[in-house]
Amino acid sequence: MRKITIGLLGFGTVGSGTAAILENNRYDISTRSNTEIVIKKALVRDIRKQRPGAEHITLTNDPNEILEDPEIDIVVELIGGIEPARSYILQALNNGKNVVTANKDLLAESGEELLEAARVNGRDLYFEASVAGGIPIIAALRQSLTANKITSLVGIINGTTNYILSAMTEQGRDFADVLKEAQELGYAEADPVSDVEGLDAGRKLAILASLAFNTRVTFHDVYAEGISNISSADIRYADELGCVIKLLAIGKHQESGVEVRVHPAILPKRHPLANINGVYNAIYVTGDAIGETMFYGKGAGAYPTGSSVVADIIQITRNMNAGSEGILNCSCYNHYPIIARDNFTTGYYIRLKVKDEPKVFATLALFFAEAGISFNSIIQKPRQDKSAEIVLVTHPCREGQLQQALHSVNAYDKLDKVYNVLRFETNAI
Ligand code: NAP
Ligand code: HSE
Repeated sequence: MRKITIGLLGFGTVGSGTAAILENNRYDISTRSNTEIVIKKALVRDIRKQRPGAEHITLTNDPNEILEDPEIDIVVELIGGIEPARSYILQALNNGKNVVTANKDLLAESGEELLEAARVNGRDLYFEASVAGGIPIIAALRQSLTANKITSLVGIINGTTNYILSAMTEQGRDFADVLKEAQELGYAEADPVSDVEGLDAGRKLAILASLAFNTRVTFHDVYAEGISNISSADIRYADELGCVIKLLAIGKHQESGVEVRVHPAILPKRHPLANINGVYNAIYVTGDAIGETMFYGKGAGAYPTGSSVVADIIQITRNMNAGSEGILNCSCYNHYPIIARDNFTTGYYIRLKVKDEPKVFATLALFFAEAGISFNSIIQKPRQDKSAEIVLVTHPCREGQLQQALHSVNAYDKLDKVYNVLRFETNAI
């Protein structure tokens, strides 16, 4: 049986999960891949730190002990961030090594450069764990769904924020308290602002949209908004409307180009994505041949993410055994424009406080009518201080129209405050 040697860059949450899966499932993995897979070394920052599961692995803080080691066949990058991860991956590929990475930050920014380096060197660059933890969505888009023209994908692709929104909705818990728990469980990024502000989901959406629509989408093309402005009042109003609030990542291929956006969205409870809770992720993909298909599973954590990393390692060992490395390359043969935010089309939820006086609601309605927007539903609650809290839900309109109406609303002297504006996705699939 051929022996294939691995070097891990990083031995944190995902690195330790990867090593544990390789150890726990050693017999099945070696039989399935007809290969003995051995971790030779792992790069860390602090080699003195206690690391359960690393007892039989040599640790180093010198990257060249892995990147320049001719015995190492596959480099597995689990450090995260842009640098030094980018330089290490390029060095590994240029040294003839195959690479597995879970690094969405890097792929969403420099995916083209890395895939080109893999192509030039005739090596594999696999990245299943970069999106949705344990869900095999990258393999689906790169292989299983390639017969289709994909028209849209809509997903919950950040485990941390879904965990937070689920606990706020189901248990009425406090945002900061649940975030701390998600960090302790290993779901959150090193800097959890990436999760909370929608950046992590935006990076994953860039990767998914590039693969689904075969056009280069980088993180800078994605409109990203997070969940830090979601209050328990918004969650209660959503419930009153028969809905829940989810952080959605939406990618659509339309005649005018590609629309890519991440933001909290109000979703009817009957919608399948409304029932994806906790750390679970799900991605709905619509293709012309397959119709609608949904991928579901744990989107973060050591073992689910390690499952994707190890599957990539096994696939590469198979490719090495068959001499077929470097076959799956960059597939961005289209050059679609990115649709501007003004042209996003969806319904909106606007929660505001105004003076409770005659003509005030009529005036608000006029601002929306002047922008060509009609209402889907309205909730009004009188308050003690002669003001009224109003929730307006619109029918779908362009974001440019909504901004025009909000401009008038914000200038209105009977307005106390606009609390929140959220997208209301009745047609998310
Ligand atoms: P982590 O727990 O913070 O682990 C990072 C590891 O990399 C640590 O062992 C750290 O060393 C090492 N490291 C960091 N910077 C380094 C440097 N400059 N030189 C040498 N070693 C360095 O991170 P993680 O959660 O495992 O995430 C790893 C990657 O997987 C990231 O790209 C992340 O976005 C991605 N990912 C994570 C999850 C998840 O559920 N956590 C899911 C999907 C994808 P020390 O231990 O000495 O600090
Ligand atoms: N921080 C990420 C999340 C990890 O919560 O989804 C998985 O990519």
